[in-house]
Amino acid sequence: MKVIMLGAPGAGKGTQAKRIATKYNIPHISTGDIFRDNIKNNTDLGKKAKVFIDKGLLVPDDLVLKLIIERFKLADCNSGYVLDGFPRTIPQATALDEALEKNNDRVECTINIEVADEVIINRMAGRRACLSCGRTYHVDTLRPKVEGVCDYCDTDLVLRDDDKPETVKKRLQVYHEQTQPLIDYYNNKGILYTVDGTGGIEEIYEEIIRLLKD
Ligand code: AP5
Ligand code: MG
Repeated sequence: MKVIMLGAPGAGKGTQAKRIATKYNIPHISTGDIFRDNIKNNTDLGKKAKVFIDKGLLVPDDLVLKLIIERFKLADCNSGYVLDGFPRTIPQATALDEALEKNNDRVECTINIEVADEVIINRMAGRRACLSCGRTYHVDTLRPKVEGVCDYCDTDLVLRDDDKPETVKKRLQVYHEQTQPLIDYYNNKGILYTVDGTGGIEEIYEEIIRLLKD
């Protein structure tokens, strides 16, 4: 199964992608998590990406595509994947299609999680992230068992650098300009499913699972 999670920053892509990946036993591939991992380890890619991420801008397509092509080569991708945060531009989407078409393959389903900008700005201020396993929590709606510590890997939770309100506003602007056109792109292919992202996390998850089973 090959699934794309689409949605604005903070729409809940990562939250739902983790659950889908566990249910179907496929990897959760988040380009944002891969960049954060590289930034933490001070790699060349991390240094280059940080300049864009900290400003709320997209990392250039060529860097993203290089990274994702390497990731697809790993054996765990043989049975599919959930893509979270990729593709994010039309050139990224066409590059993905071309790469898959070479193997007579395609993405089966794109889940678009819809959440209004005002809700997102509030959510991001309360988000806490684990930079080790990529899980996210929320100070009100999804609290870890022990305050400030990841339930799964015991790492201290942090407020992401790009979750400052001014940067979130920029990320939303960039989303509307560069990523939202993908909604039409996948709708035209007949593989777009939109879910309301303002319900409860479990409720949204169940709706997504129903869509994936159809
Ligand atoms: P990335 O890490 O992908 O960030 P993003 O798309 O901005 O999305 P987020 O991770 O912020 O949000 P999410 O939708 O995963 O929400 P979450 O589940 O955490 O990318 C970061 C940066 O890297 C980009 O800005 C860009 O610079 C760069 N980058 C990455 N990929 C790129 C690409 N392909 N091309 C170019 N550049 C790229 O949920 C948010 C919060 O809400 C959490 O606290 C969660 O607990 C809570 N929550 C979730 N669902 C609900 C709910 N239903 N009700 C209440 N609270 C909820
Ligand atoms: Mg995320």
